[in-house]
Amino acid sequence: MPPSRTGRAYEGPPSRIATRIGPTVALLLILFEHRRASCLMSNSVDDWVSGSAVVCNGIPGLTKDQRELCHRNPDVTVAAIKGLQIAISECQNQFMWHRWNCSSLTPSSRTQQSSVLLKRGYRETAFAYAISAAGVAHNVARACSMGRLLSCSCDPLHYMDNPPTTTRDITFKWGGCSHNLEYGMEFSRQFLDTREKAGDIQSTVNLHNNQAGRLALANNMQIRCKCHGMSGSCELKTCWKIVPEFRVVGKVLKNRFRNAVLVTQSNLGNVIPSNKIRGSRRRQKQKQKKRRGGGRKRKLRDLPNQLYYYQRSPNFCEQDLTLDIPGTAGRRCNKTSTGGDGCSDLCCGRGYNVVRQRRTERCRCKFHWCCFVQCQNCTVEEWITVCK
Ligand SMILES: *[C@@H]1O[C@H](CO)[C@@H](O)[C@H](O)[C@H]1NC(C)=O
Ligand SMILES: *[C@@H]1O[C@H](CO)[C@@H](O)[C@H](O)[C@H]1NC(C)=O
Ligand SMILES: *[C@@H]1O[C@H](CO)[C@@H](O)[C@H](O)[C@H]1NC(C)=O
Repeated sequence: MPPSRTGRAYEGPPSRIATRIGPTVALLLILFEHRRASCLMSNSVDDWVSGSAVVCNGIPGLTKDQRELCHRNPDVTVAAIKGLQIAISECQNQFMWHRWNCSSLTPSSRTQQSSVLLKRGYRETAFAYAISAAGVAHNVARACSMGRLLSCSCDPLHYMDNPPTTTRDITFKWGGCSHNLEYGMEFSRQFLDTREKAGDIQSTVNLHNNQAGRLALANNMQIRCKCHGMSGSCELKTCWKIVPEFRVVGKVLKNRFRNAVLVTQSNLGNVIPSNKIRGSRRRQKQKQKKRRGGGRKRKLRDLPNQLYYYQRSPNFCEQDLTLDIPGTAGRRCNKTSTGGDGCSDLCCGRGYNVVRQRRTERCRCKFHWCCFVQCQNCTVEEWITVCK
């Protein structure tokens, strides 16, 4: 049997990407679960239709296409929005010690409009798009295989009976329930790529980065297997594919962020939306890239996986509300580190203050038979350094 431990509901902070799409998503999720339950029981189309209206009309910021998609697939849309939230949370984790720490993508009462950063062409923008697209595909692929969605289930490609193969007395076959990557990828395309219709550099680059994010997921699928046979002899092995922990996708994309490719106005015409690239067009694009020559030599084959950016990033040091930059004043830093978390880098030369911080943590935990852990609360006081 495939594991179902991947099925934990995500409880992390809601994001602005998600909640510019709606501050009431959590409520909607609950509401929708009830709606669907009652709808399945009464088997009534009316209930389903009104359920989708409740969900989709309650999500502000959707484009017309997205809203239509939502009405057709309200349950998948809810899974997609959860995927966005997971993505933003992972973004914040990956950028915790950067000057830009992804906090501008979280909701704030100040404004409900989407982050200015998403309308730019920075490396950070590229990362935000890529991880969002991956997050949607990831969560939808998983939700499908958990039987939560009406329009998809386990990946039929791996689920269906591909002929078993036998090597060294072990018969191997696909079985169990693979996460439905294909459906997740397709829904991510339909949900996010439809926003990018303008055909300008911004939408072209966004489309590319969306796809690069999804590839980071697709290229890191994992295989799980189970042995069958007399006393664990493993005469027969059934295997299924699962999406990796989202942390893995975050790490891969973080590396892509470091090596992002600057596309310029002059080669922009040659950047083809990657979802349209098929065979020859892809080769064409790579040739064009090659002809251009300059800069670092990259494996051309690898271009679809790379993040593209077209604007140099600001330094993110000082607060600039028009650009949605909070600045690094007040950020915790490490005075002995020479890396990105070091005070010299994070504080942009402004120096740091040493402040005493009190925090409460769980301590002296005891395991009680059976089965719970009881802890005490301890208050620790420590000196920390924060940017001026
Ligand atoms: C990110 O930085 C802002 C200010 O620059 C700070 O308020 C916020 O707590 C930081 N977020 C994280 C997750 O460290
Ligand atoms: C600060 O950085 C140093 C060197 O990288 C490391 O050894 C130390 O654990 C860090 N301190 C904190 C509080 O993270
Ligand atoms: C510790 O703190 C948490 C929340 O601050 C509280 O819910 C819990 O009861 C406390 N535990 C003890 C043992 O005091």
